[in-house]
Amino acid sequence: MSTVVGHDGAPDHFENPGLPPHHSRMSDRDPRAAKRAERQVVVIFGISILASIAALVGYFTIPVGTTLASIRLSTLVLGVGLGVGMLGIGVAAVHWAKTLMSNVEHVEKRKVIGSDPEIRNTAITDLREGIEDANIARRPLLKGALAGAVALAPLPFLVPLIGNLGGDWNVGSFRHTAWREGRRLATDPDDVPIRAADVTVGSVFQVIPHGLPDEEHYLEEKAKAIVIMTRLDPSELIVQEGREDWQYEGIVAYSKVCTHVGCPVALYEQDTHHLLCPCHQSTFDVADGAKVVFGPANRALPQLPITVDDEGYLVARSDFTEPVGPSYWERLK
Ligand code: FES
Repeated sequence: MSTVVGHDGAPDHFENPGLPPHHSRMSDRDPRAAKRAERQVVVIFGISILASIAALVGYFTIPVGTTLASIRLSTLVLGVGLGVGMLGIGVAAVHWAKTLMSNVEHVEKRKVIGSDPEIRNTAITDLREGIEDANIARRPLLKGALAGAVALAPLPFLVPLIGNLGGDWNVGSFRHTAWREGRRLATDPDDVPIRAADVTVGSVFQVIPHGLPDEEHYLEEKAKAIVIMTRLDPSELIVQEGREDWQYEGIVAYSKVCTHVGCPVALYEQDTHHLLCPCHQSTFDVADGAKVVFGPANRALPQLPITVDDEGYLVARSDFTEPVGPSYWERLK
């Protein structure tokens, strides 16, 4: 590029270097190469379509919630289907552009920016020529493949989204857990019933209902019912009104599902009796009804009423008396 220098030595203007020479591609010169490239693009779009369909079929046919293996399989099929579906569209579009669309560069001289009719007409004409050059109209097979792939690709996102909306939060599964009167508290995951005598002051147990049937929805039931249990010195416990018999000699049990957005509260600080949720740092005071002392949660952890049976094992007095989990569900009451 050469530069014209003015009187003061500063560049006056730059020479227009022009466009580099245009090299035609194989598909420009050989109609058979163009046809081959077109077939390749159609095949890639076809792979994208099949992947999207596989994701949809996987969503509807693989049962989720019975076993970990089925959850993993469902996730794998959905993930691979969505990924290949989207990737196929991208790869096909790039291959189409590189092999079949015109690669002739068009230059429009810089002009005063304005909306005069002549410029608009030129722009429209250039656009039409560009579309013409891209050969979209003359390749109906490609058009159809593109439309099919683009139309199907969002479905694997939308169908699970719509399919998982709604439900019976108000009266059904989210308001009840597997806890029943007399059901023993057991250690998670080995399901061993816990005697009150084995719970020392300061110890913490992750607890599930004893003897949950290992069948459909087992994992969901376990996740909803999971409880964190500890023993405090009874003199440190602030017994909540109406809950005088919900604890046993300082042993208290609360839902482990955070009332903010449902993470498992997991960190117990023995000195302060605070339970911390690691997700957004909501903190609950176990000595005072697991009320919120810090963070975004806006209600206490639901308490599980407990006592002991004739053999000294800890048992539930009933189910939780309020929904477990995020407060949002409670507002649906
Ligand atoms: S989910 Fe526990 S603080 Fe947000």
